Amino acid sequence: MRQPKRLSPIPGPKSQTIFRQEQKNLAPGLQGFALMAEVVMERGQGSWLTDVDGNEYIDFIGGIGVNGLGHSHPRYVKALQSQLEKLSVGSFTSEARAKLVQKVAEHTPGRINQLQLYSSGAEAVESAMRLAKCYTGKWEFLSFWGAFHGKTLGVMGLLGDGQKQKYGPFAPGCHTLPAFPDCYRCPLQLEPGRCGFACLELFEKAAKTQTTGAIAAVLVEPCQGTAGNIIPPKGWLKALQEVTKRLGALLICDEMITGFGRTGSFFASDDFGVEPDIITVGKSFGGGFPVSGLLTREEISKAEPWSKPSGSSSSYGGNPLAAMAALTTIEVIEEEKLCENSRLMGERLLGHFQRFKEKFPFVGEVRGKGLFLGIELVKDRETKEPLSEARMKEFYREGVQRGFLAMSYKPTIRFQPALTIDADTLDAGAGILEEMFTDMASRGDWR
Ligand SMILES: Cc1ncc(COP(=O)(O)O)c(C=O)c1O
Repeated sequence: MRQPKRLSPIPGPKSQTIFRQEQKNLAPGLQGFALMAEVVMERGQGSWLTDVDGNEYIDFIGGIGVNGLGHSHPRYVKALQSQLEKLSVGSFTSEARAKLVQKVAEHTPGRINQLQLYSSGAEAVESAMRLAKCYTGKWEFLSFWGAFHGKTLGVMGLLGDGQKQKYGPFAPGCHTLPAFPDCYRCPLQLEPGRCGFACLELFEKAAKTQTTGAIAAVLVEPCQGTAGNIIPPKGWLKALQEVTKRLGALLICDEMITGFGRTGSFFASDDFGVEPDIITVGKSFGGGFPVSGLLTREEISKAEPWSKPSGSSSSYGGNPLAAMAALTTIEVIEEEKLCENSRLMGERLLGHFQRFKEKFPFVGEVRGKGLFLGIELVKDRETKEPLSEARMKEFYREGVQRGFLAMSYKPTIRFQPALTIDADTLDAGAGILEEMFTDMASRGDWR
């Protein structure tokens, strides 16, 4: 089985020089795991990365769900190269975009068949909010504790715990309410499966008491990513749709991270039996190219002024290069049966994690849907007290030293490897994680 090559101390001499040089002029605030690693990546192939000193890494971070096809998928590289040589700029119709909108509509739930294109996730979410306002004539928005929908000011009012400090005041009418069903840490301290979705009852009550009743939309991640790759129980999203209808609001499913195969199907909402009113997509959608989008039904898409010429457009949204990136990504997902691979490899990785739970006292919970997985590390399984953040940062650095990259710098470890990952690479990554857990258990420094 291939293991990550290590040719120098990590970070190696070339990494150190380039990293230090960049730090002089790069403003602070880059993703923490990149800053902590201090390595400079040179190339990638599939689920493998190589740094400038020749050291290799197995990548279970996958650009936080962006890297659906794996690094530098040959078909993707070829398609983008050839599109770049032909045309890359502008919003005139291109063959790639015409094919893309049709292709996406083949996979959307129910009557959803309209796509508008953007360049970042937050931009698509904001457009969804504008559209919901235009369609309903209302102005309030609801989201959930733990939610993440981007960092632009228009969506920040809807972010979950601890992400808003110092950025207020936010747009009026944004309400972040209890509670997303994080069943391992039930906010109502109830027993999963026997609670009758009490968290949703609370949500509906809060919506009625905290708003003016002018709710344009409820915004939800079908599975919460940033909060820790949390998967709601079966039936919950469907029940939320009913609540949303009772509130007279649209349901916006933010599938930025769950969409395009990540959770084992094209759309997690579809898998949960829900046809949302609007879906927002990004990340894996473009296979690495910055392209995002909003999907909806024809009837909703006609709402004005959103639908007027130039009403919902943007400078880069759906340009020929972006359209080709998204089109090729979907074609590869279809041809290589990546939804199926996501399900199979996800089950395989979850199988490893379940074994870890039996073996290591600090593994409190493991969960996964497709290649969207999480592990909770706790000091005590009864109290569920998480391992300290400082310990986890060390743990992440240990992983980098061993050539293993996962979002393991927090006690809720997140995994979203490429959908193209094969069993050997998956097992090699899980093997390194097991070694790291074994060392932590024998040192006993997790308490
Ligand atoms: C569910 C969800 N929505 C929106 C976003 C924002 O996307 P972007 O960083 O492209 O603006 C993210 C990013 O992590 C996300 O996970």
